[in-house]
Amino acid sequence: MSKKSDRSKWRSETKAVHSGTLRSQFDETSEAIFLNSGFIYSSAEEAEAAFGDKINRYLYSRFGNPTVSMFEEKLKIIEDAEDCKATGSGMSAVFASLASYLKAGDRLVASKALFGSCYIICKEILPKFGIEVSFVNGTNTEDWEEALATPTKAIFLETPSNPNLEIIDISQICKLAKVYNTKVFVDNVFSTPILQKPLDLGADVVIYSATKHIDGQGRCLGGAILSSEEFIKDVVTPFIRHTGPSLSPFNAWVLLKGLETLSLRIKEHSNNALEIANYLHTKNIVSRTIYPSLNTHPQNEIAKKQMKAGGGVVSFELKGNKDKVFKFLNKLQIIKISNNLGDTKSLICHPATTTHQRLSDDEKLEIGITQNLIRLSVGLENVDDLIDDIEYALDS
Ligand SMILES: Cc1ncc(COP(=O)(O)O)c(C=O)c1O
Repeated sequence: MSKKSDRSKWRSETKAVHSGTLRSQFDETSEAIFLNSGFIYSSAEEAEAAFGDKINRYLYSRFGNPTVSMFEEKLKIIEDAEDCKATGSGMSAVFASLASYLKAGDRLVASKALFGSCYIICKEILPKFGIEVSFVNGTNTEDWEEALATPTKAIFLETPSNPNLEIIDISQICKLAKVYNTKVFVDNVFSTPILQKPLDLGADVVIYSATKHIDGQGRCLGGAILSSEEFIKDVVTPFIRHTGPSLSPFNAWVLLKGLETLSLRIKEHSNNALEIANYLHTKNIVSRTIYPSLNTHPQNEIAKKQMKAGGGVVSFELKGNKDKVFKFLNKLQIIKISNNLGDTKSLICHPATTTHQRLSDDEKLEIGITQNLIRLSVGLENVDDLIDDIEYALDS
């Protein structure tokens, strides 16, 4: 017998298209953009009640906005999280989540293999506020165990990591964290909720740069923090309300539209990336190809366990020196040189001189960022055209 559609049983593609929509009195199909900073009260008493949390309504777009709420609600439902708070960029999501939870005297343990700015937050910014930070090799369980033996308030990790695609076993680290009563924060940018759901694997907080695949079309910055209702309402929201790294309503609208097609795009990014990884693997001039679903990837078994596909980024090393790498990048025609990723357009970068330039040579080497390493964010072009482009640049 046919049944009436049950919202709670919708599959993720249906949720991505329909959930979170707040329709105005005009019954628009696509979500409206509420591009306003303030809201009007019918009386001074109403304003007083709103500021005193006696009534629930919008007050000011730094605190909340209907278009931003629609983005938060849709992402929350796709992620199966209790709550979500949007931010103006991925970095503000990383900083706000950690800075709102930690205080002077607390200790954070982070994996070493982090995106450049995330590493700087841990290495330089949090310690300025009296937070002690220790780094571990994220793929080594003994390292984590040893670090957690000293009381630790939070763990921060990125998997797959940018740019070396190191994979950390999320459920294993979360089990350890429970033993030591530590919260686990996962930067899930490279996987998106389509490929990996850290909260289901035991993590406490998930962080996104929505600038990447969630927009996925190179248009705007954005970020999000997902966690329990208590953490978002009591810890993150007051911090964002008073310090102001809020998401613009226009950007929230762009990101809402991105969420509708995220699943389709991620599947295609992953298919194209796998083909390119297989192609690079056969080339003599490529000394190393790194892609989570290649069986040569050192953590391939963990990737298969926790990710639905390998994602849209392939990293590789060319034989030779930096000059040779730059020549290769400069010869590409379709693939563009850019430090962004997760875009419909294929984008390539040399992490040692861009995203990770600020790390010392030793710090770079410790996380495998050599002068020969290249990070390719595979777009949605025809994969044969991309392979032809790479082949031409390699041959040249
Ligand atoms: C893993 C990771 N986290 C955070 C960020 C920062 O995001 P945003 O540029 O939106 O601030 C990036 C950007 O590349 C990233 O790759």
